[in-house]
Amino acid sequence: MDSTQLSVTCIAPVNIAVIKYWGKRNESLILPINDSLSVTLSTADLCSKTKIIADAKFTDNVMILNGKEENFENERIQRCVKEIKARAAELGSCPKELLEWKIHIESENNFPTAAGLASSASGYACLVYSLAQLYDLKKQEISDIARMGSGSACRSIYGGFVQWQKGIQLDGKDSIAFQVAPASHWPDLHVLILVVNDSKKKIGSTSGMARSVVTSELIKYRVEKCVPQRIHSMTQAIKDRDFSKFAEVTMKDSNQFHAICLDTFPPCVYMNDVSHEIVNYIHEFNRTEGETKVAYTFDAGPNACLYLLEKNVKRVLSFVNHIFPNDNQKSAEYVRGIPVEYESEDVN
Ligand code: ADP
Ligand code: DP6
Ligand code: CO
Repeated sequence: MDSTQLSVTCIAPVNIAVIKYWGKRNESLILPINDSLSVTLSTADLCSKTKIIADAKFTDNVMILNGKEENFENERIQRCVKEIKARAAELGSCPKELLEWKIHIESENNFPTAAGLASSASGYACLVYSLAQLYDLKKQEISDIARMGSGSACRSIYGGFVQWQKGIQLDGKDSIAFQVAPASHWPDLHVLILVVNDSKKKIGSTSGMARSVVTSELIKYRVEKCVPQRIHSMTQAIKDRDFSKFAEVTMKDSNQFHAICLDTFPPCVYMNDVSHEIVNYIHEFNRTEGETKVAYTFDAGPNACLYLLEKNVKRVLSFVNHIFPNDNQKSAEYVRGIPVEYESEDVN
């Protein structure tokens, strides 16, 4: 190789699940106990941006997240780097010495990190995608490696409507994400994010779901009796662009997920009073409008993600502005997201 330094920069979007992933059957491979389904947002809205520099002269591997150094020895980062390098070595996709060089990773999220807005999804999708660019694995399947960083990240590799099937194999080879429909299938479906609280959650998703698997009774019922039917109805609703069905399943699944969090012992309380107010107001809004115009869903955090059709964005925004005027107690910020195809850009 002529040069002694290589650099790539990529961006990756978050995805917001409408059927939630919650619970693992294998912690180290990150294999889930249920299928999940999500919508990938546009990288123009919530995204992670990651720069990786590989240099023959670097003496250490370094990871910086939002300006602060992270432990590079972190098991998840290690697993992603090792898997990508193993694949590159096997395929001979890049010069051997490049795989020996140390790397410096710098990543930033343009939205709150670890606050229940899927930063681990965009973050690990971006990390793995950037590594794949660096080692020239451009056409390779990388969703399974992103999954080993954070489960939800395997869905952010694809745009549009994405399902992650849990799989049944012990080695996780069939625990894969795939696109149910591209974003262009339903271009007038929009997302509004209401930031209720941007601080770091007290119980991270990883430890929260591990606790649920051990202590919740309800989680078993959900996995066996609810999720399979919901995946089926949701897929159909997406295919038919049936917003009312899409909204109903989305809201029911969010509510059941948070019921499981409360059924966990000690409980994981992610939603707060403002989150619950949002839920009540949305049901009231849909009732008075005479049709379901908006659906809420909450990840492991207090912040609301609202799905709605483009024609209703203005009306819903003015309603939200009316109920939550921006005072210090109940402030809500709005980010408008349109699901698009997965994008990345190499600025070098
Ligand atoms: P969230 O609800 O935001 O996904 P999680 O508890 O699932 O919260 O995960 C948060 C963790 O994900 C962070 O503490 C960090 O370890 C990791 N993470 C977030 N953003 C990035 C990023 N851009 N690059 C690498 N890792 C990230
Ligand atoms: C509530 O993917 O963050 O957002 O696999 O342990 O990293 P790890 O967990 P993570 O869990 C996401 C949980 C969720 C629902 C979802 O995105 O499906
Ligand atoms: Co997460």
